[in-house]
Amino acid sequence: MSVQMFQRGGAIMLKTVRWSGWPLLAVVIGFIVTGYATSGRYGMGKLIDARTAMAVHKLLHLPLLVLLLVHALPAMYLAVRRWGLFAKASRIKCNPESQT
Ligand code: HEM
Repeated sequence: MSVQMFQRGGAIMLKTVRWSGWPLLAVVIGFIVTGYATSGRYGMGKLIDARTAMAVHKLLHLPLLVLLLVHALPAMYLAVRRWGLFAKASRIKCNPESQT
């Protein structure tokens, strides 16, 4: 893999992490609010009635899971890359003459 492709891949991953973080935050807040509203705890019952809260809460499971994966997987990939693990692996595969 060329250096440009490696860097471009990283930039796309970072954009993905940053863009997905905000809808994920909204979904997590919605999940918590609707979760507590089903039992009327912490005053959340005043915001939304229990039946609607339960219906919305159930609907939020899939977006939560998808967004969490879209956010966390590239974040973890970038962390592993920052630790230099891929660089070490690519040093083995790359042309040794081009390495300093
Ligand atoms: C439901 C839980 C989570 C929520 C609501 C959340 C939300 C966010 C938000 C709002 C940002 C800021 C995005 C920006 O700078 O524009 C962010 C950044 C970040 N998140 Fe999460 N996140 C969650 C879970 C995770 C997990 C599980 C990981 C790692 C496995 C993770 C890794 C990161 C990283 C590394 C950044 C910084 C990206 C950067 O700017 O360099 N997050 N997150």
